[in-house]
Amino acid sequence: MSASAKFPEGFVWGAATAAHQVEGGNSNCDLWALEHAKPSLFREPSGDAADQWRRFADDVAVLSALGLNAYRFSIEWARIEPEEGRFSQPVLEHYQRCIDACNERGVTPIVTFHHFTLPLWQARQGGLLDKRFSEKFGRYCEVASKALRDFPFACTINELNIPMYVRELLHKRMERDDGPAIRAAGEAALGAPLDNIFILAPPDAVLDQGIGAHLRGRDAIKSIHPNCKVGVTLSLQEVEAEPGAEAVRDAYHAAVYDPFLDAAKGDDFIGLQTYSRVTMSPDGKKSVQSGRPQTQMGWEDRPEALAATCRYVWERTKTPIFVTENGWAGHDDARRAAFLREAVAGLKGEIDRGANVLGYLAWSLLDNYEWFSGYGPRFGLVAVDRQTQRRTIKPSGLVLGEIARNNSLLADASPSEEGKFGYLSNQAGAAVGIG
Ligand code: BGC
Repeated sequence: MSASAKFPEGFVWGAATAAHQVEGGNSNCDLWALEHAKPSLFREPSGDAADQWRRFADDVAVLSALGLNAYRFSIEWARIEPEEGRFSQPVLEHYQRCIDACNERGVTPIVTFHHFTLPLWQARQGGLLDKRFSEKFGRYCEVASKALRDFPFACTINELNIPMYVRELLHKRMERDDGPAIRAAGEAALGAPLDNIFILAPPDAVLDQGIGAHLRGRDAIKSIHPNCKVGVTLSLQEVEAEPGAEAVRDAYHAAVYDPFLDAAKGDDFIGLQTYSRVTMSPDGKKSVQSGRPQTQMGWEDRPEALAATCRYVWERTKTPIFVTENGWAGHDDARRAAFLREAVAGLKGEIDRGANVLGYLAWSLLDNYEWFSGYGPRFGLVAVDRQTQRRTIKPSGLVLGEIARNNSLLADASPSEEGKFGYLSNQAGAAVGIG
């Protein structure tokens, strides 16, 4: 094996999830209310999700059996602080047990403090438009950090910059005929304007209270756990400029990426989350290049996008990068496996060119609740039966696990390895099959 095929020593390999997408029953948050509005922006409610509230330790056992060594999951503010200023000790103890379950398996826990959902009370107080948002988020991070220990990495806010482009898309969505009814039902269910949910926050609020919340959260976590590496995660797609669109593309980068990258320069790492590429026309319209394969999300199938965004972030910040999400949605698991390999190969190229990359986390460990799209899209390395909650390992999970075990791309998962992992027994005694 050539030395250059090896990833840096200590490179972290894992998978990610988010509380609302897997735990189930997250009923005290803003999005749960919107999921139940009629009509709704959401295709279906999250319901029991993947029941990870009860199955956390089993899921970590599966992740570890694959060969992965890190699990990024989120703790839920709406559960930890169900009413403003009242913190739930049993919920904090639950999350400590989750962290312990990782450490007991030799899996590095990477804790995200906020992943899209807000406590309902905070959405009603304005979401990010509330001038006290950053202070309240900082207080939550402080209380949670005092209660929790033994997590070497933390992400404050997931994809802090995503409202900068998703807000516009959602507003367009609500210009359709059913838009006014969706807005009215959503606002009635939420008891607040829709702009109060995180992903609809207006740009000024994100730049002010959002960035402020990250900084306060980071300082709170680090003041209690000085050795914990803390960062914010950002949503970055490769943006390809059509001829003549270079200046518009640069302006887009300057508005949607750069203020967040600049704010994160003093952090321990920047969480890079890339899925695809968009093409930008000279009039600023973003589209998916025609004639190219697409994933189940309707995004261009473009594993090379990860290397492109990695280069952009490294050149601008020279801050360590952690790929905290990257993945492929669809039923063709062989294509998912190939996508992951290609994305990771591109990332290795950037490491060889000098980028400091700490690790790679696939989205997602499990097929889970994909927000507006409900349970349709399949991102998981492990399938989840919606009726029985039975977990079934997909070959792509074995492929990534093999890369992780070898810390190199030169090894490949072979059919004999599928045999080795054919059936794992989880702690509840249920069989975990291979897809
Ligand atoms: C989010 C995840 C989401 C994934 C795929 C990211 O924007 O952090 O929660 O499931 O993309 O859409």
